[in-house]
Amino acid sequence: MTAKPPDGAGPPAPYEVSDELISVESVSLAYGPRRRPSVALENVSFNVFPGEFVCLMGPSGCGKSSILNVLAGFIRPTGGVAKLRGRPIVGVDRHRGVVFQKPALFEWFSVARNVAFGPRCLKTPKAETDALVARYLKSVGLEGFADHKVYELSGGMKQRVAIARSLITNPEILLMDEPFGALDALTRERAQDLVREIWWRTGKTIFFITHDVDEALKLATRVLVMSERPGTVIHDEPAGFSRARLEGADDRVWFSGDFHAARHRLLALVTGREKNDT
Ligand SMILES: Nc1ncnc2c1ncn2[C@@H]1O[C@H](COP(=O)(O)OP(=O)(O)OP(=O)(O)O)[C@@H](O)[C@H]1O
Ligand SMILES: [Mg+2]
Repeated sequence: MTAKPPDGAGPPAPYEVSDELISVESVSLAYGPRRRPSVALENVSFNVFPGEFVCLMGPSGCGKSSILNVLAGFIRPTGGVAKLRGRPIVGVDRHRGVVFQKPALFEWFSVARNVAFGPRCLKTPKAETDALVARYLKSVGLEGFADHKVYELSGGMKQRVAIARSLITNPEILLMDEPFGALDALTRERAQDLVREIWWRTGKTIFFITHDVDEALKLATRVLVMSERPGTVIHDEPAGFSRARLEGADDRVWFSGDFHAARHRLLALVTGREKNDT
């Protein structure tokens, strides 16, 4: 797979291989007992460079969440290794924030209390925590909702709370597993705008799983496509549409010939209508 990032994606050249933020090297993963393993991932390799926005796509059940769980440190691969800055990932730490499809929030707690979870775990003084909570709620457009209970919020707002909660500890990497999959079309588009803008403003590295080809192309600097289970990465596509939008292009960029062609190419791969072309 790519040793270097594609043109126009990630930090400026020249590149050294050691600049990789994440390297996934021949990772395999089998669930279940050793006698009767259920193989979810087979020989998965890819790199992520600092500042990239990588979207991962693939058929349902091909192992996307399994990869994210390995990167988060929730599970260990049964073969190969996943590294962060050259060091094997062996557990969870605050340098990687995770946002799930179903926001894992405390429904009966206030928005502020949910967002304050990380700083409280880190024993941050209260005044500092309050200031951080206010700042991060503002950054996701939820100022004024600090005292609302989570169960009072819409799905899109809950996902914003989850994003603020994962950003507040200032992780280097944001891992997002189909975070907008359950949102209606308009809310989803707004959420995409927010995450694109956060990426641009903070320069964070984002690893984002989606089923939606348009979403991938509207956000990513690179799109990785996985095969059917046991999943492996079969395609690595540079994408410049998100960056173009941020640099001033209007919505027509989503309707351009290039966008359409990329969409067609990725759809064919994800649905298995076309053989791997890498
Ligand atoms: N804890 C587990 N124990 C056993 N099998 C599992 C476990 N977690 C996942 N699997 C299996 O591993 C395979 C990959 O699962 P994974 O959730 O990573 O796929 P996915 O690509 O994220 O799917 P989806 O698109 O539906 O979210 C699936 O066949 C799934 O049933
Ligand atoms: Mg999944």
